[in-house]
Amino acid sequence: MKSYSIALIPGDGIGPDVISAAWEVLQAVADISGFSLKSTEFPWSCAFYKQTGAMMPADGIESLRGFDAILLGAVGWPAEVPDSVSLHGLLLPIRKAFVQYANIRPHRLLPGVQGPLKTEKFDILCIRENTEGEYSGAGGRVHQGTSDEVAVETSIFTRTGVERILRFGFEQARARSGKLASVTKSNAQKHSMVFWDEISRQLGTEYPDVEVTSYHIDAMAARMVMEPETLDVVVASNLFGDILTDLGAAIQGGLGFAASANINPVKNAPSMFEPVHGSAPDIAHLGIANPIAAIWSGAMMLEHLGEGLAAERIMTALEETTANGIGTLPGRDRTKSITAAILESVAGDQMPRR
Ligand code: NAD
Ligand code: IPM
Ligand code: MN
Repeated sequence: MKSYSIALIPGDGIGPDVISAAWEVLQAVADISGFSLKSTEFPWSCAFYKQTGAMMPADGIESLRGFDAILLGAVGWPAEVPDSVSLHGLLLPIRKAFVQYANIRPHRLLPGVQGPLKTEKFDILCIRENTEGEYSGAGGRVHQGTSDEVAVETSIFTRTGVERILRFGFEQARARSGKLASVTKSNAQKHSMVFWDEISRQLGTEYPDVEVTSYHIDAMAARMVMEPETLDVVVASNLFGDILTDLGAAIQGGLGFAASANINPVKNAPSMFEPVHGSAPDIAHLGIANPIAAIWSGAMMLEHLGEGLAAERIMTALEETTANGIGTLPGRDRTKSITAAILESVAGDQMPRR
């Protein structure tokens, strides 16, 4: 029987709750689909930092390298560890070290989920650059604590980095409606963003079947609220993609529904799957986190592993559950009862798939 080794990093706050829910569903689907998933859990988190002085051990990246995939909950406990320390100590280094340059985030309403918009007809796939740009970490502070203090945060856009994410966007657009929206701010940022626009035009000549349109980030933010049905694949830089995908989460009913995949497209290192949301300290330990975003991320993991039919099984179970009104309203249903309903739907899956 085919078997996949999965590294689990539950993390902080609601991370462990949503990962245990996702793992239960993944196991149930693997059982009926004829493959096995073996987990190794890593306790790396802000609690780990408090004990050891690091978010993960010095050889943390190397210990993840051999896994088929990584499933992560959320990282961050700002009351005790500064976010700039916890995220630069765990999540961001994994994305960079494993060249997970494409962060894929689908935004659509599951049946029965009420979004805040007038329209329900949208199906957006955000592709966020995930290794460089505004998150490169280049910069520094001088004259700290004096009135002459200076802080510099340098965005780095390389031809390799921009070209590969745009190419990924073109390929996704080709496989969907043939429409690609490329997001920049080239009216104000005249170096990096003009560079991005130029590369998108150059690549466009290789994809005559894809209609690429450039939007400024501010206009895109408005469009995602006012006319989301006019969008399909949206490709953006690291920071712009980060912000647009919380907006995407909002229009799909909330952060409890927004899934994501950090993909290494050449597959020479593991990819990582995680919900878009964070550790939600405001609801941590209340047992009311929506596990749907994490479970959907698990489906994206199965798809990436080549288990497309099993991924489909998860999506069908999620859709059946929300169509029955379970997990659709923030805070009403408990994590455990939403998970139980999804498991029930998986168990009732009689579709002959293999
Ligand atoms: P957040 O996403 O944790 O929470 C924002 C709001 O959404 C909160 O009101 C929260 O209760 C709600 N929410 C989030 N997920 C939910 C779910 N599954 N079900 C129901 N409600 C949900 O964002 P934040 O408050 O800005 O960040 C909290 C911490 O998480 C910070 O330390 C931040 O740096 C970190 N963070 C980590 C990740 C990650 O690990 N991938 C992502 C975002 C934020
Ligand atoms: C996300 C998160 C992270 C990001 C933070 C926690 C560094 O907001 O995955 O969207 O901005 O990449
Ligand atoms: Mn974010």
